[in-house]
Amino acid sequence: MKYSKHIFICTNQRANSDSKSCGEAHGLELVKAFKKLIVDAGIQVDVRAQKSGCLDVCSHGPALVVYPDGVFYGQVGLADVEELFHEHILNNRPVDRLRIKFEKK
Ligand code: FES
Repeated sequence: MKYSKHIFICTNQRANSDSKSCGEAHGLELVKAFKKLIVDAGIQVDVRAQKSGCLDVCSHGPALVVYPDGVFYGQVGLADVEELFHEHILNNRPVDRLRIKFEKK
């Protein structure tokens, strides 16, 4: 595996949609904030944050997912980035309050 943590942040912008998409909210700012923390910590060889298209959890947006854990986060604000980075990315402790809970089928 190339990265120990790979963060995909939805920056999708839906044209002509009634609901707000992640990109219209602040998806790109989230990408920038994660990238800055990664560079500041000097761990860019091991951790990557990048833009993604729609993650299919639009009603929870702004959304992101952290792999290889497969943990989806929703309603992520810029103020949440430091906590997500410190807890999940650096210390492997997913942040429950922002986690999207999927119903098992
Ligand atoms: S627009 Fe972001 S998850 Fe669909």
